[in-house]
Amino acid sequence: MGKLDNKVAIITGSTSGMGRDTAYLFAKEGAKVVVTGRNEERAKAVVEKIKADGGEAMHVIADTADLSSVGDIFNKAMDAYGRVDILMNNAGQLSVTPFMELKLDEWQQVLNVNVTSAILLAQLCAPVMKKNGGGHIINIASVAGCAAHWGSAAYVTSKHAMMGLTKSMAMELGPEIHVNGICPGAIRTAMLDSVGGEEAFGFMVERSPLKRIGAGDEIAAAALFLATDASSFVDGQLIRVDGGVDI
Ligand SMILES: NC(=O)c1ccc[n+]([C@@H]2O[C@H](COP(=O)([O-])OP(=O)(O)OC[C@H]3O[C@@H](n4cnc5c(N)ncnc54)[C@H](OP(=O)(O)O)[C@@H]3O)[C@@H](O)[C@H]2O)c1
Repeated sequence: MGKLDNKVAIITGSTSGMGRDTAYLFAKEGAKVVVTGRNEERAKAVVEKIKADGGEAMHVIADTADLSSVGDIFNKAMDAYGRVDILMNNAGQLSVTPFMELKLDEWQQVLNVNVTSAILLAQLCAPVMKKNGGGHIINIASVAGCAAHWGSAAYVTSKHAMMGLTKSMAMELGPEIHVNGICPGAIRTAMLDSVGGEEAFGFMVERSPLKRIGAGDEIAAAALFLATDASSFVDGQLIRVDGGVDI
């Protein structure tokens, strides 16, 4: 008996990184998983692995920089499975452009992928969750949602927005829907590699008592907690999963 038997989970940005690790864990716990992202080859590989391991999944290709693609994720999930119980807003785009060089296009793209698509998808899923008696929404923010990081104004702003959004959604979507978030620290994924990998994050390792970079399955474990009754009295919270950096 899995912890997520009979549940349907949409996980955005589950073609790689912590979203993919969460897709594997949720499927192992019995959820039917909707895998999303832009890269079809990787999306298919995630679905195939889940199915090979005895789970159930489908994929929807969507570039959420284009907000009109968000409806597709919801509609295809409903067509295939008829319900949505868990939404993990995880897709994210990094921006390492200093404030004075930031162009409107990049700002809007980062905000669309990291925040606005999460709002739109939650607005589509929430009525279905309420109708079915409840649901869980998990927003992936960042330690960059708790403090500024030099040279990434758009990303930092988007992650601060995810913090406020999580609390606002929790306030308005309860009692049926639990809304919580996770603030990952430095986690070993393609995104981390794109900005220099573990070596570039030595400063975070130094500032944390656990003295290491995290792994995607450590975020997946926190997401599972937030997706089940194990977190039944937790709402509107953003859990830092960051090895204790800057405590
Ligand atoms: N790694 C870290 O240290 C860290 C720390 C704090 C927070 N985070 C956050 O964690 C989340 C997951 O990131 P990750 O580290 O696992 O990185 P990742 O391995 O690069 O995964 C990012 C995911 O987002 C999807 N994505 C990116 N742009 C997209 C777009 N325009 N439309 C649709 N999907 C898009 C990617 O799919 P495709 O490539 O298939 O489009 C991929 O599945 C992000 O929100 C990120 O900001 C990461």
